[in-house]
Amino acid sequence: MTQGEILYSGKAKTICLSEKPDELIVSFRDDITAFDGGKKDQLQGKGASNAGVSAFLFGILEESGVQTHFIRMEDPVTMRVKKLSMIPLEVIVRNRAAGSIVRNYPFTEGHYFDPPVVVTDYKDDTRHDPMINDDIIVALGLLTHEEIARVKASALKVNLVLKAFFDGIGLELVDFKIEYGRYGNTILLGDEISMDSMRLWEKGTMKSMDKDVYRFEKGDVMEAYRTVSARIFGSR
Ligand code: ADP
Ligand code: CDP
Repeated sequence: MTQGEILYSGKAKTICLSEKPDELIVSFRDDITAFDGGKKDQLQGKGASNAGVSAFLFGILEESGVQTHFIRMEDPVTMRVKKLSMIPLEVIVRNRAAGSIVRNYPFTEGHYFDPPVVVTDYKDDTRHDPMINDDIIVALGLLTHEEIARVKASALKVNLVLKAFFDGIGLELVDFKIEYGRYGNTILLGDEISMDSMRLWEKGTMKSMDKDVYRFEKGDVMEAYRTVSARIFGSR
């Protein structure tokens, strides 16, 4: 593997050029942040945990017909991906109410959404990732209305696949955030899908097994991440 110049260093991952112009090398670091970077720590093994889980989930999504940027793992914290032109949107799918939807609207925590709710946020830390609607997405030139429909349909497919998978290992997929990017004429699923970007509850208990353990100091976050990871890898 040739790891080239750093293209971008975000809150939890470092993106480097590779020897191929259309491929990037993503390193998952041990950094964990919450509340727009207001809370920060380093947790040993967190990068490997999230990288492994992301790679696994991209794999089952590809098997189900969802196209992703994932190429292969180079080592336990390093992923080779297709270089995307990222669309600055956070596409969030919610099966149950938690987090911002409970803070902003009169839903009680745990309320079931049937059908699931899809929310789009504009990815811009300086603006605190405000919620964005379809017309603003089009006005900003990010996607056409037709592309928005395709992205939302893809996000719902991701939800169906992941929800069924987690159900099989005793976890409830409460919500998750994904990002998409352009690759030539296609739009692919990019970034990561990990305990940092999903809410997972122990089935039947609402016990957090994700970044909420860190956000709200609910216990040992690495123990939760390791448990999820072990159950995922024990499932195959
Ligand atoms: P943040 O930008 O939120 O601090 P990260 O530390 O996770 O987050 O940084 C990863 C960055 O890489 C994100 O901005 C994400 O949009 C971007 N990214 C993810 N996958 C790809 C890809 N395949 N091609 C280009 N950029 C990507
Ligand atoms: O964290 P908060 O309650 O503010 O956000 P949310 O809108 O309730 O988050 C919904 C889901 O998206 C959760 O699983 C978050 O972990 C995830 N998310 C993320 O991964 N990155 C963000 N910038 C915002 C949300």
